[in-house]
Amino acid sequence: MPKKIFSGVQPTGNLHLGNYLGAIKNFVDLNNDKENNCIFCVVDLHAITVKQDKDQLKNNIRETTAAFIASGIDPSRSIIFNQSEVQAHAEGSWMLSCMAPMGWLNRMTQFKEKAGKDKEKASVGLYIYPILMASDILLYDTSHVPVGEDQKQHLELTRDIAQKFNKDFDCRDFLKVPEPLIQKDFSRIMSLKDGLKKMSKSDPSDLSRINLTDSEDEIINKIKKAKTDSFPIPNEDQKLINRPEALNLLGIYSSISNQNLNKTLDEFGGKNFSDLKVKLAEILSSKISPISNEIKKLISDKQYLDKLLLEGANKAEAIAGKKIKEMKKIIGF
Ligand code: TYM
Repeated sequence: MPKKIFSGVQPTGNLHLGNYLGAIKNFVDLNNDKENNCIFCVVDLHAITVKQDKDQLKNNIRETTAAFIASGIDPSRSIIFNQSEVQAHAEGSWMLSCMAPMGWLNRMTQFKEKAGKDKEKASVGLYIYPILMASDILLYDTSHVPVGEDQKQHLELTRDIAQKFNKDFDCRDFLKVPEPLIQKDFSRIMSLKDGLKKMSKSDPSDLSRINLTDSEDEIINKIKKAKTDSFPIPNEDQKLINRPEALNLLGIYSSISNQNLNKTLDEFGGKNFSDLKVKLAEILSSKISPISNEIKKLISDKQYLDKLLLEGANKAEAIAGKKIKEMKKIIGF
């Protein structure tokens, strides 16, 4: 069955290996299947849930678009656009927020993590952000949503919201209930400095992540400095319990090499981390440096990127605008 794919990435800078292995690499595979209809969105409305620098935001929107293309998404076989250009996303988000109970949002762990201790100071936008995400997905009758593991709860909420809307307004199957596509293994890439913390754009230490714009030297240096432990690499995955840094580096190696963890353990079991690090830096450089170079090339052609986003927005508008009209009719406007 052809899939209707929708996914989004925030243009908040520092796109990293976690974004790539957890999501974008999967976007590329799905896009390579000519049967699928793919929509990839630069979710700039999501980005402003925390303060953004005006000029930086514009650059980041272009950089995220460039990263999609540089990673292998074919713009002639997908719709790529930025969210703020299609009004239906914000409109749909409002309508859905009027029927989503606060209790459901109160359960969202990502809000708790991002808001930190002083949640009174977090923006209302950060709190209702998962509803905007539901609107993004539901406006396109999406069947599948490729994401990293950290978005699982938001996907579950999206499914609940779709079902509640259909029930409340007695419109069975109007909002399609989407399936998450979360890779079975390595769907949560961890920080290079702390195997218990997710690799993240906002980590103050640049050494904690491999950025998609890093040069070969930077990649080699970061892998050299990545945290490990003092034991040799084991032969079986059971022996990786309570060894988060070891598991993370072996997971990254497996994911980027498209092989399972056991095969990686066959390769490195009994060896030292220095052996793994040499090979890991080599393969990461060979896969990430071409992406990094292509991002830099694409980003210098602002006109091309802006035109692509505009064309994408027009196509997205045609789909989402129609859905929002139907939604308004169902509600009674
Ligand atoms: P964002 O911008 O934080 O991340 C983009 C994608 O990268 C994945 N990801 C990771 N995967 C594995 N390991 C990591 N360390 C890691 N860090 C990030 C995320 O899971 C995500 O798939 N709310 C979303 C964006 C969004 C969206 C949507 C996604 C808005 N609307 C509709 C899908 C459908 C977010 O903030 O992703």
